[in-house]
Formats: sequence, C-alpha cells, structure tokens
Amino acid sequence: MSETHTAHIDTGTLMRGLDAAERTPAAARLRARSYQLLRLPPGATVVDVGCGTGRAVAELTEHAAHAIGVDLDPAMVAAARSRFPGIDVRAADATDLPLGDGQAHGYRADKLYHVLPDPSAALAEACRVLAPGGRIVLAGQDWDATVIDSGQPELTRRIVHARADTVPHPRIARAYRTLLLDAGFHDVEVEAGTAVFTDAAMVPIIVGHATAALKTGAITGAEAERWISEQTRRADDDRLLFALPLFLAAATRAT
Ligand SMILES: C[S@@+](CC[C@H](N)C(=O)[O-])C[C@H]1O[C@@H](n2cnc3c(N)ncnc32)[C@H](O)[C@@H]1O
Repeated sequence: MSETHTAHIDTGTLMRGLDAAERTPAAARLRARSYQLLRLPPGATVVDVGCGTGRAVAELTEHAAHAIGVDLDPAMVAAARSRFPGIDVRAADATDLPLGDGQAHGYRADKLYHVLPDPSAALAEACRVLAPGGRIVLAGQDWDATVIDSGQPELTRRIVHARADTVPHPRIARAYRTLLLDAGFHDVEVEAGTAVFTDAAMVPIIVGHATAALKTGAITGAEAERWISEQTRRADDDRLLFALPLFLAAATRAT
C-alpha cells in the first residue's frame, strides 16, 4: 500500500500489522461471521474487495464456487498469490471492479472503506456487480474509538484522535448502516466486536500513531518520544494493550 492509501504506513508495515490482526481470535470470529452473513448459495461467485494478502479469498473458496480477490496495490496482489497459490486475485480499483453486471452473489470488503476517496462510488459499484438479492458485508474499525493502555491518557487521547484524522473516513464503520440504506440495500444488520492486541508485533502500528500525530502538529517531538518509549517498554514487559472496536454490517441488494 502506498502513502496515498494509508498515510504513514508502507506496505511491509501494513502487511505485518494485518498478519498480527488476522491471527487474533476476534478477527478470526469476525471473518467466519462475515462468510455466514454472505449466505452464499451453491455455485455462487463472491468478491473480496481490498483483499490485501488474500486470507479471506482463500477461506471463501470453501464457501463459494468462485472467490475473486481484488486489490489496488500490486504488492498486495503478488503477496496474496504467493501465500495462497491458485487463488483468483486481480489488481483493480474498488470503483471499477473486473466483474460483469450482476455476476456476484456476495461482496465483502474488510478494512477498506475508511481509505477510499469516495465510499459511495464503491458502494454503487458493489450494486452493479451484485445480482438482485445478492449479499454485501462491510467490516472495519472505528478509528476514533481506538483504545491504547498508557500512563499518559490525555496524550494518548490526542494521539488517537490525531491519527484518526489522517484517515480519509475514520468513523465510517459506525456509518455503514446509513451508507447501505442510502445506497438502497435492504435487511441491513450491524454487529460489533473488539479486537484486542497484546503482541509486540503491533508496536510498529502503535508507534505509527504517534508519528502520524507528530506530523499533524497535535503533539510535540518530546511527547512523541516519551509516549513511544512507554509503549516500547510496555511491549518489552508484556504490558501492551491495543484494542479496536470492529463493526460488521450486512445487507441485501434490492431485487
Ligand atoms: C487495511 S488493508 C485490509 C486488507 C484485508 N481486507 C484485510 O482485512 O486484511 C486495505 C486494503 O485495501 C486496498 N485498497 C486500498 N484502496 C483500494 C481501492 N481503491 N481499491 C481496491 N483496493 C484498495 C489496499 O491496497 C489494502 O490491501
């Protein structure tokens, strides 16, 4: 992923963060629940948009006749193909999917809509590729509500909010329901859970929050240094806690 997609994080760092995230029980539960909510009929085609390194595409091949992964970043597409040989992953934009009208019975996008310049355009494209009665599932975190344990709570709050503001749509997960209703989807349901990370593999992501906040001017260099050294010490002492509220919204395309 380039800087234009997610500020301050390069593809390698993002992949390590996603790997740590997808290993957590909450993320595994959320993925499994998202597959159930797609309610795929036998022989279905499903598309996972913003598929990253491809785990969901690989898992979806057990639920669908044809699972297609789509990602804008060629490095992600290459990583997905190398991790899960044989899966169908294509480089394309969420607003211009390589599928025909009504070709898919399922559409899934996990941790994607917050980075899109125009989420409504992506939803319109979802409507185009979904068959009438097809199912959509959106999943993602609410960036404004990130929880980080720290002895410096006021500084942490400033860092979390400043980091959230570097994301194009930091609160889109709480708005999935409205977005889906506004796009004409029916039977909209929303579920929520929390992913909790205590693993040192999350340190680069946590440090990235402080670096992003520093760049926005929300904190000083000295504050960034003090906060990063606290979080690094916590990781060394096994005292890290980073938690993300996750939302899952499912709906049906109008017939
Ligand atoms: C945070 S990652 C999530 C990856 C994966 N869905 C997961 O849950 O692990 C977001 C992914 O969306 C991709 N992406 C960003 N903008 C995109 C766009 N306009 N169209 C398609 N994919 C996009 C990125 O390259 C990245 O792989």
